[in-house]
Amino acid sequence: MKKKIIIFDTTLRDGEQALQASLTSNEKLQIALALEQMRVDVMEVGFPISSPGDFESVQSISKIIKNSRICSLARCLPQDIDAAAKAMKPATDFRIHLFLGTSKLHTSSKLKKSFNEITDMAIASIKRAKRYTDDVEFSCEDAGRTSLKKLCQIVEAVIDAGATTVNIPDTVGYTTPTQFKNIISTLFERVKNIHQTIISVHCHNDLGMAVGNSISAIEAGAGQIEGAMNGLGERAGNAALEEVILALKVHENILRTRTNINLKEIYKTSKIISQFCNMPIPSNKAIIGKNAFSHSSGIHQDGVLKNRENYEIINPKNIGLNHCQFNLTSRSGRAAVKHRMKEMGYQKNDFNLNELYTDFLKLADKKGQIFDYDLEALAFFKRQQNTEEYYKLEYFDVQSKLSGLSVASIVLICGSQTNIQKATTSNGPVDAIYQALNKATLYPLVLKKFSLTANSEGKDALGKVDIVVQYKNRNFHGVGLATDIIEASAQAMVNALNYIWKSTQVDKEIKRLNKQ
Ligand code: KIV
Ligand code: ZN
Repeated sequence: MKKKIIIFDTTLRDGEQALQASLTSNEKLQIALALEQMRVDVMEVGFPISSPGDFESVQSISKIIKNSRICSLARCLPQDIDAAAKAMKPATDFRIHLFLGTSKLHTSSKLKKSFNEITDMAIASIKRAKRYTDDVEFSCEDAGRTSLKKLCQIVEAVIDAGATTVNIPDTVGYTTPTQFKNIISTLFERVKNIHQTIISVHCHNDLGMAVGNSISAIEAGAGQIEGAMNGLGERAGNAALEEVILALKVHENILRTRTNINLKEIYKTSKIISQFCNMPIPSNKAIIGKNAFSHSSGIHQDGVLKNRENYEIINPKNIGLNHCQFNLTSRSGRAAVKHRMKEMGYQKNDFNLNELYTDFLKLADKKGQIFDYDLEALAFFKRQQNTEEYYKLEYFDVQSKLSGLSVASIVLICGSQTNIQKATTSNGPVDAIYQALNKATLYPLVLKKFSLTANSEGKDALGKVDIVVQYKNRNFHGVGLATDIIEASAQAMVNALNYIWKSTQVDKEIKRLNKQ
């Protein structure tokens, strides 16, 4: 039988503690709801004594979350324990998480107490917390640097006092997987009452080993892993929970463990957290990064097309990501180009693959990434590449005010016609101008990506807007560059509209040829 590993999420406590701007109560609640859907077993949602705001948000989360155990942090002080219990009172069941430094460094230079005094404080605090709940976790802060003899001693004492979970944090991310595994194995060998509790681990990532250390601890018998989504947390962060969960899943037969997590919610939860916390996810981040399931080299793309498992150990669909993406670059092979054309709806006979691939490589060398419209231009439109743009923005005027409507007026040249439009919206000036352009061109578009970056520094920096719009299942890219970011946004859309117009001409041409 597989052993169930308890997944303890601390995004809203250790993770939040490290953000530049703290989350609002409502944002924390949204994150808690996402974590509940992901089915984390325990969620640590705050440190109630630390501020009235934290107290209130723990209280409001405790009222709403029903399917994950709510937990909050407390120092080994009576007022902390009472505040934690009071904040979580609305929850049906809750956990109080106590912590106290156990390493020589922490006891002598931070807490200025003897080890015996520390042990007494821990015991008294566990007993006080037990008045409020049966579920009490005790953390030996800085366990990674605590002498093994002392660690075994305090672990035994806190289990005797009633700690139902004993957490072994590598607070400063100091240990290696072998060292950490040895700590956990030693506890299982030497602490006589160890089986009356659950051993938990909480690894920080200062040396980039948090996930490795957590998995090593599972091999040694730990039953709970603590971590934060997207690896958020103090300094270099906590063990990234999504990585831990997937590592346990991929190796479930060797580790003989399972979790209760709904894997399909991972991607969405990670995105929500990244947005609310204003912490972008690096492209190459395992599991959730933009490139985690995207294949660039021709050999890899060909391999994935033949069998996804050639270059993927996880099916992206299992974590709620609906597609596997190919970056078309000069490293892509003929197979990837053919595959993309097919995905865009073109038949084999619609274009000459050999010619297209030769032109594709030349353009990719110059341009880097190749988009759908580039492929179409190469396949069907090469001769007309230098023709005049069909749409031209002749004039625009946008008015916008705080908490009011934005109004955009435009004059768009459409071939030989002039089109004047006006749009009003409460979604801001960019949406207003996009709506006016849409009224003028009438393409049913979906804006898939909007990104604004400054191309240099200072207030006169050029704003570069990159957009991707979807039209009839194809993606079109548009770029606009201007010191005025509204103008850059408008130009990016006009750029994309021109590519769409060209592709509609290609469709007409194909239909005409098919009729002949
Ligand atoms: O890193 C740590 O030691 C902690 C404790 C409070 C568990 O966050
Ligand atoms: Zn921590």
